[in-house]
Amino acid sequence: VAVDPFDLVVFGGTGDLAHRKLFPALFRRDHDGQLTDPTRIVGVSRKEHTDESFRAEVKEALQTFVPADELDKPTVKRFLARIRYVTVEAAGDAGWADLKTLIADGLDRVRAFYLATSPDLFDAITHNLKTHDLITQKTRVVLEKPLGKDLASAQEINSAVGEVLDESQIYRIDHYLGKETVQNLLALRFANVLFEPVWDSAHVDHVQITVAEKIGVGSRGGYYDTSGALRDMVQNHILQLLCLVAMEPPGELDADSLRDEKLKVLRALKPIDDASVRSLTVRGQYRTGAIDGKSVPGYVEELGDGSQSQTETFVALKTEVQTWRWAGVPFYLRTGKRLPQQVSEIVIQFREVPRSIFGPAGGFLAPNRLVIRLQPDEGVKLYLMIKDPGPGGLRFREVPLNLSFADTFKVRNPDAYERLLMDVIRGSQALFMRRDEVEAAWKWADPILEAWSRLGHAPSTYTAGTWGPSSAVALIERDGRTWHEDPDA
Ligand code: BG6
Repeated sequence: VAVDPFDLVVFGGTGDLAHRKLFPALFRRDHDGQLTDPTRIVGVSRKEHTDESFRAEVKEALQTFVPADELDKPTVKRFLARIRYVTVEAAGDAGWADLKTLIADGLDRVRAFYLATSPDLFDAITHNLKTHDLITQKTRVVLEKPLGKDLASAQEINSAVGEVLDESQIYRIDHYLGKETVQNLLALRFANVLFEPVWDSAHVDHVQITVAEKIGVGSRGGYYDTSGALRDMVQNHILQLLCLVAMEPPGELDADSLRDEKLKVLRALKPIDDASVRSLTVRGQYRTGAIDGKSVPGYVEELGDGSQSQTETFVALKTEVQTWRWAGVPFYLRTGKRLPQQVSEIVIQFREVPRSIFGPAGGFLAPNRLVIRLQPDEGVKLYLMIKDPGPGGLRFREVPLNLSFADTFKVRNPDAYERLLMDVIRGSQALFMRRDEVEAAWKWADPILEAWSRLGHAPSTYTAGTWGPSSAVALIERDGRTWHEDPDA
């Protein structure tokens, strides 16, 4: 559905996120006819550019990040015509008047500012928006992650931004919420009657959430080394997934009902403290190894600054949601860079049958398992025990009911940013994080970070191309469980 013309101003317009994600996403929406004239997309940074030289940069980004067969000439032309550029000093005075002049005639349009910059600038930029009278009735501001580096800095940012904008104008992005399969989690749970009755501690043995990447830190070392996997992935993406798995059904699907339920989960997370941090968390850092048979450098070499960084590129941990529904059910979470596969999945491991009526001849009855795969090949697998075909008696085999989205729907899944950007323009906040959610997530993550630093808990090394330090395997095997491995992968 086409949206009314809008102005979108991207701070950090010459940066990696804008090139890699934002412009390609907007291009695809334009391609599908969703952008209407005279929509404008304004790149902003402190670099010098003319509209023309910036358009050339955007064109190059499209050529790099959008497959060639999607880059039809008329859309590229139409899209580039929407692009403008203004040089602005985010924390100073220069350029703001030019920006104002450029978009002054768009008072009746949605005016969105996307802050794809370091969070250190969020305060200055939003205050400058106010000082220069750029905030209209229809203004929305998108804040990219990371939102701070701990609870205190997140609160500071939220308060500063809150001085000039109403919460209803603030869109804190967590792009995992825009992923197709993440939304399918809501469909699976609440559009079917099958799962909800068994979605509790009486039927679920444990939950696993894995977000594994093959890539290393690459050129992002400057940011990543001050962050690490817990801040970069767990505090936001993985906790959001956990919330959608563990939350109670919201009464309605409006933004606040959904966010209220997620908040309750975050507040019910079992705290990890100095006493439990060593038994409940694993930190890792990759060293030289091989991915797909190609040798790759270790994290420290990739940073290349000669430092002996103690930043973790892998985390595994065990937590619990302390509610009636989930009491006693472990949630095992893990994420890391330079792992053997790129895979994100949620595993709901059900309990064993109360008693096998088949006796020893029936063999082991593997408990049911529901695997929701977010990427790369989105789908849902429900592992069931089935009789081995043929006359050989009652022997059983574990076989998945396999729903592959690519095979079933044969359509391209939109990138998370396509959906989220359009949600901003439409004014739908459901897939964005509210202030209290972000802060509750930090409140749980902070004691882990503090305990690591207080106890000098250095990351264990793992060879690039393996599933993290051996202690990550021990974390779950100690409890008589194993990390899920897809037999078909
Ligand atoms: C980002 C992290 O938020 O998510 C990156 O900062 C990570 O470190 C990325 O690579 C993963 O996103 P996706 O969509 O590729 O799974």
